[in-house]
Amino acid sequence: MSSPLPIAVLVSGSGTNLQAIIDQQEAGNLPVEIKVVICNRKKAYAIERAKKHGIPVEYVSHLNFESREAFDQEIHRLLESLGVKLVVLAGFMRLLSPWFVERWYLRLINIHPALCPSFPGVHAQKQAFDYGVKVTGCTVFFVDSGVDTGPIIIQAVVSVLPDDTEDSLAERILKEEHWILPQAIDWIANNALEVKERRVIAPVIPHEELRAKWQLS
Ligand code: GRF
Repeated sequence: MSSPLPIAVLVSGSGTNLQAIIDQQEAGNLPVEIKVVICNRKKAYAIERAKKHGIPVEYVSHLNFESREAFDQEIHRLLESLGVKLVVLAGFMRLLSPWFVERWYLRLINIHPALCPSFPGVHAQKQAFDYGVKVTGCTVFFVDSGVDTGPIIIQAVVSVLPDDTEDSLAERILKEEHWILPQAIDWIANNALEVKERRVIAPVIPHEELRAKWQLS
C-alpha cells in the first residue's frame, strides 16, 4: 500500500467540510494525512474541530500582512515546510493571488455551493434561490486564477423544491458537499484523474453508487 497523501485544509468558518474529511480519513476510507489546518479567522469553529482530532492548526491572520501576496507567501512557506502535496480549500473565505495559484495549480482544490459556472462568488445558494433555478448543487474544482472557474472534478445536483427556503436549500447542498469533497480528494490521492486542458476525466461511476460509498454509519 502506498503512503497517505499529505494534505492541508484551509478554512475560515464552521468547518463541516473539514469534519467530513476528518471522519472519512479516520474511518479508513481516505488515504490522506491532514498535516495542518490553516485558518485565517481566530473564532472559526473549524479550529475546534481540528484540535479535537489532534490535527495541527495554524492561525494565520491576513490582517498581519501588508499585501495579499505576502500573506500567500507565508501560507506557501508553511505548506512547503510540511511537505503538503494537496491543498483543500473548504470554506476558505479569501481569494488567493495568481502568484499562489500558479504555484499550486492542479494541487489546489475548492468546493463551491453551486453548479459552476453558475453563481460564482459569495452567497451562491442565495443567488441560485433568488434566480429561481430548479436545480442547483455543488462543485469541486481545481483552482485557477478566476473566481470559481477552474477545471471541474465533480458536481452533485440538488433540486430546488417549491417550499424551500434559502436555508433549507443550503442545508441540502451542504449534505452533498460532504461526499463530493472526499470523493475528489480520493481520486487525487489515487491518481485517478486525467486533466486535458479544462476537462477533468474521472472514473465513470453512477453518483448513487459513489454517494452510498461515503455514507458513514
Ligand atoms: C460551504 O458551503 C462551501 O461550499 C463554501 O463555504 C461553505 C463552508 O462550509 N465554500 P463549512 O465551513 O465547511 O461548514
